[in-house]
Amino acid sequence: MKIAVIGSGAREHAISWKLSQSPRVEKVFVLPGNGGTQNNVDIAVNDFEGIKQFCINEGVDLIFVGPEDPLARGIVDYFKESSIRVFGPDRQAARLEGSKIWAKQFMKRHGVATADFWLPKDADEIRQIAQELDGHLVVKYDGLAAGKGVFVCSSTQEVYTAIDEIERRYGPDAAFILERKISGRELSVIGFTDGKDIRLLLPSQDHKPAYDGDQGPNTGGMGAFCPVPWCDEALMNRIDRTIVQPTLQGIQKEGLDYHGVLYFGLMITDQGAQLLEYNVRFGDPETEVILPALQSDLLELTLSCLDGTLKEQRLEFESDYFVDVVLASGGYPAAYEKGKEIKGLQEVDEEILVFHAGTVRDAQDRLLTAGGRVLNVVARGADLHSAIERAYKAVGKISFDQMFFRRDIARKGIAL
Ligand code: GLY
Repeated sequence: MKIAVIGSGAREHAISWKLSQSPRVEKVFVLPGNGGTQNNVDIAVNDFEGIKQFCINEGVDLIFVGPEDPLARGIVDYFKESSIRVFGPDRQAARLEGSKIWAKQFMKRHGVATADFWLPKDADEIRQIAQELDGHLVVKYDGLAAGKGVFVCSSTQEVYTAIDEIERRYGPDAAFILERKISGRELSVIGFTDGKDIRLLLPSQDHKPAYDGDQGPNTGGMGAFCPVPWCDEALMNRIDRTIVQPTLQGIQKEGLDYHGVLYFGLMITDQGAQLLEYNVRFGDPETEVILPALQSDLLELTLSCLDGTLKEQRLEFESDYFVDVVLASGGYPAAYEKGKEIKGLQEVDEEILVFHAGTVRDAQDRLLTAGGRVLNVVARGADLHSAIERAYKAVGKISFDQMFFRRDIARKGIAL
């Protein structure tokens, strides 16, 4: 079987790495890929016709979509009449991520545990809500914003500033939602679904802020680990009962066409688990730890979702812990320089996985930086301590000008 993985990040590197291990896979292409992926094809993720022509010419059987944008734009719908299968939800179902308002209303319709929310009609209503909650609100732009459309506020002034910023960036009519701010521990739970059943992978934790101690601006994610020691079976069962199963029932009741990966971004509060957001694809950087921790065959899981036979699948996992440290370009998530030569990768021990994100190879086959997040260094260990130690030992061998990384990845898994 020939597969095209769509995307260019470390998530897609991890997906193509895992798919390549399947005995039934003949070749995995990555469109457009990066300096670490094999069989790259320079076609943009939203160029559906270009993707289609390539897949027809190369005899590709299956498309595995990494990022949300092509899903929200309807790549699944585009291929509906074609014999090439696309793994992911269709455009309607992708609104679970593509529209924060629609997703929140879906949660409410189906009794999914989530924080209160408001869709204010005018400035008076905004003022009233903001004053009532003393500004303890989260303001979210309705559409896709690559993680930049969420503003966590602690005062009424911050709420107004967030709304101004959304209107400045996305236009004066930009839709947004106000949500009650809740606090607790964040957790990512990601599963496969064929629309009837769901199989969850190991719970994981992302590290969004740029600097140690969760300080600094939010990023696409500076590291991840799995499993999460404080997330025990009882908590997973509660999450399943109050969030995952009501979501699945909602998908069925509304007749959504969902054969793909579903991501639950959770906050574990004193009152229980609350759903912050859905994503309709694998998380990044969570994928870089949850796929190495998955023993089961990714292709078989993908096909069973497409065939509607997920019920027959039992997932197997490694017993180890996995830690991913992201190496980033100085200045990220604001402006940063590119084109820095990456050194030391050949010094890294063989059992370490290095998934590339913003990298490129030049004409001399030198590896250069080409993005904010550059490399994901993934190590495993029988406990979280040893996985952390191995990851940072490997990080110590890699360098590029102005490289930076967090030094406390996965510590929150030990401290709690
Ligand atoms: N790690 C969060 C995301 O992928 O959106």
